[in-house]
Order: sequence, then structure tokens, then C-alpha cells
Amino acid sequence: MGDSTDRIDETAVGNRYGEWFTRGLRGIGMRYVFSRRGLWVINTPYRRILGAAGITAQDRVLDLGCGIGNILIALAERIAFVHPAAGVDVSPDLIRIGRREIARAGLSVRIELQVAPATHLPFEDGMFDVVLTSHVLKHLDDEALLASFREVARVLRPGGRFLLWEFDKSPRSALLFWSARLTGLPPPFQLRTQAEFSRALRSTGFHRVVGLDAGFFLLPPVPRIALLATR
Ligand SMILES: C[S@@+](CC[C@H](N)C(=O)[O-])C[C@H]1O[C@@H](n2cnc3c(N)ncnc32)[C@H](O)[C@@H]1O
Repeated sequence: MGDSTDRIDETAVGNRYGEWFTRGLRGIGMRYVFSRRGLWVINTPYRRILGAAGITAQDRVLDLGCGIGNILIALAERIAFVHPAAGVDVSPDLIRIGRREIARAGLSVRIELQVAPATHLPFEDGMFDVVLTSHVLKHLDDEALLASFREVARVLRPGGRFLLWEFDKSPRSALLFWSARLTGLPPPFQLRTQAEFSRALRSTGFHRVVGLDAGFFLLPPVPRIALLATR
């Protein structure tokens, strides 16, 4: 699928994110751009993308690699979820900050976060109607990507939706590597094409995969892939 041979250490990636978000001025900047208020910067067309999943108040929603809960907070501000929306992230620091943000927004009854890696989800089979994941999959090598997709398929009910978006593998994505260096989050990142994601989804139990128009992203201005897959 991709061209990397090194195995990605999920815990180490989470710890790296923790340092990135908690140290000094850079930490303050990161906590802003990855917050509910900063969504317009790093996830500029998020409303349009989320719209494709048609999420309703009855849906049981999981955000995989939820960071500090930005997308769940934005959703829960608009949708009075009947079942609390769930978020998992491999970084204990980000989950701690996310819980604080959720409490500040007065949304603790609508959102529950926990620490977990994308490859081992702490949920029962068929528990969710919708799984989202934004800008996380580049941190998984091919084996971890397939393990994670199998986990998403397992926790989704039949007919459930999986909405994902990520940087595209394209020459223009070189800018991502530069912006990562400048902000101090180093590669390895493994980027993939839409065809590679689609193949991985189909091989792990998703029978319908539709490409979405991801729209323009402000930061970094690099093309993204957005896909809606049905279990
Ligand atoms: C670029 S941030 C995106 C955060 C949020 N989804 C957003 O779009 O704003 C990537 C997130 O993925 C998390 N992450 C990376 N590898 C992971 C893994 N193997 N399992 C779970 N979370 C992971 C990181 O800790 C970080 O919070």
C-alpha cells in the first residue's frame, strides 16, 4: 500500500503529541488551533465534510483520534445527542485537556473521552452508528491501518458510517512535511491515495466507499482526501 517499512509506535506518537500540546508557547498555539475555536483554521470545511455523514441526535458517534475533542464539541453544541458521543485518542495528555475543554463548554453529559489506540478500541461490537476520524490515519503504518479499520468495522453496526479525512498523497503534500518541521512535530507520516484507502476499507468489511469533495483547507493548504464508507 504505502512505502514505509518501519513500524509505527502508537504510544510514542501519543506521547509526542502530548509534548507538543503542553510545552511553552507552542503548546498554547497548538491548544488553540486544535480547539473548537481553531477548527476553522486546520479543518476549514469541517461542517461540509461532517454534513456527509448526516449525523442525528439518535446516532451513537465515535471520534477516533479525537485530540482535545474539538470536533465532538462542535458537533455536541449543535446536536443534543441522546447517547453521549465518544472520543478516543492515544495521548493521555490530549484526553486530559479535552475533558477540561468539554467541561468548560458544559458538555460533559454529551461527550465521553478515553485513552485508547486506534488499533484496539475499548468498545463492544456494533455499538456505534457513525465513526469519524480526522487527520489521524497518516500516523498508522499499513498493518496498523488495517487493524484500525477492522476495529472500526467491528464497533460499527451493520449499515453504520465511517467518515474519514486525511492529507492526500500528492506532490503538493510536501508542504505538510515542512509545516510539521516548523511546528516541531516530525514525520514519520505515511500518506496514502484515495485508491489505497478505498482498497483498505473494502478489505476490512466496508462494502460501499464514496469519495467526498473535501473542499479547501487553510492550514496547511494541502489537498485532503475525504471518504464515507458504509459497513
Ligand atoms: C493531527 S491530530 C488530529 C486531532 C483531531 N482529530 C483533529 O482533526 O483536530 C492527530 C491525533 O491523532 C492522535 N493519534 C495518533 N496516532 C494515534 C493512534 N494510533 N491511535 C489513536 N490516536 C492517535 C494524536 O494523539 C492526535 O491527537
